[in-house]
Amino acid sequence: MLNYSHTIPTKLYFGKGQIAKLAEILRPFGRKVLLAYGGGSIKKTGLYDQVMDILSDEGFTVVECGGIEPNPRIESVERGVKLCKEHGIDVILAVGGGSTIDCAKAIAAGVYYEGDDLWQMVAGRHGILKALPLVDILTLSATGSEYDGGGVISNMKINQKLGNSYTFPAASICDPTYTFTVSKYQTAAGTADIISHTCEEYFSRTPDSDLADGICETIFRTAIKNLPIALAEPDNYSARANLMSISSIACSGIPSYGKQSSGWPCHAMEHELSAYYDITHGVGLAILTPRWMRHILKKDPGCAWRFVRFAKNVWGLDGEDETELALAGIDKLEAFFRESGIPMTLSELGIGTEHFEAMAAHANLGGRLSRSFVPLTDADIVEIFEACLD
Ligand code: NZQ
Ligand code: ZN
Repeated sequence: MLNYSHTIPTKLYFGKGQIAKLAEILRPFGRKVLLAYGGGSIKKTGLYDQVMDILSDEGFTVVECGGIEPNPRIESVERGVKLCKEHGIDVILAVGGGSTIDCAKAIAAGVYYEGDDLWQMVAGRHGILKALPLVDILTLSATGSEYDGGGVISNMKINQKLGNSYTFPAASICDPTYTFTVSKYQTAAGTADIISHTCEEYFSRTPDSDLADGICETIFRTAIKNLPIALAEPDNYSARANLMSISSIACSGIPSYGKQSSGWPCHAMEHELSAYYDITHGVGLAILTPRWMRHILKKDPGCAWRFVRFAKNVWGLDGEDETELALAGIDKLEAFFRESGIPMTLSELGIGTEHFEAMAAHANLGGRLSRSFVPLTDADIVEIFEACLD
């Protein structure tokens, strides 16, 4: 087990009705609020009106920054920074999914960025930055952005989608009832993202971090149990609450305690798919993960022990033959994604081979995936993309 140190400075307000605390949470930061939100789901669900009523009753001034895209664009970050500077914003309130929260994080840090080009901030090497205070109300269980300091911003002009550190939310209101309206597609994609975050931590060379591995296995089993319930009964509070609680933990760093990093290979590959084709993050991960697993198991049978553990402890499988058992666990995962109704091939998304080499080279920039759980070359990555075609 390796050494680790960890802090999460975000206060989670989890559960039904926690919005009652919104004014109290915001008040210490000031009166001028930038309200960041996406393409309008919060208007349809009534959450927008609820938030606006609280803010106006409690004497806050609101400047709106709506229309933040899924796979948020640098242009939205630029627009938000401009609004913050023009209006002397004290605090940002992001209401939405990971895209809105990520964009709000980059806006919060962008206000203090000294250069002229905010893309340089997104693409730069840095840790957590000085930023405006950020509070969020989560409406989709998926990314964990509500409980981490990272954000992912896209520049479609140059086909780049880059993750970076910006700021942690000061507080996140996580009310599972706000996810009752999430479509089946986004519910399944979000759960695939949670499962992928957990895979990226679980598939590590460190064999003896029992706490972290046990947390990962609990997250997997929680997702496997609750996704089908949430799909069948969108307003099942218990299922939605379980998905929301694993959303926050899976990407928090806790499931990696004491473990060697896997290098997050599926995320590196998926960000390339989104950068070129603007696909839903969780769908890209669901397609990639089983193909990546089969590829690395074949390339390095020495990692089979990890897959055997996955098959036994997550899927309850058993058997004598290590390789068969390892492959059976992967098949189970793929079938689970397929049954959730999301596309499971790149062809279904209209993606062909034309950019695979450029995408592989960028995913592996600086040889970073040569240091992953099973080292990957550019050629390996192209093969994994090819295996995803059908
Ligand atoms: O934009 P609106 O109208 O709000 O609609 C959204 C959007 O169309 C809709 N939605 C959200 N909440 C809803 C709802 N529809 C009905 N009812 C609700 N309650 O769902 C759609 C997808 O929203 P989005 O925010 O894009 O989804 P998600 O939370 O999956 O975020 C994806 C983004 O986060 C990044 C991804 O790469 C992607 O850009 N990630 C961020 C991470 C982080 N900060 O740590 C880690 C992840 O690995 C990930 O890369
Ligand atoms: Zn993710």
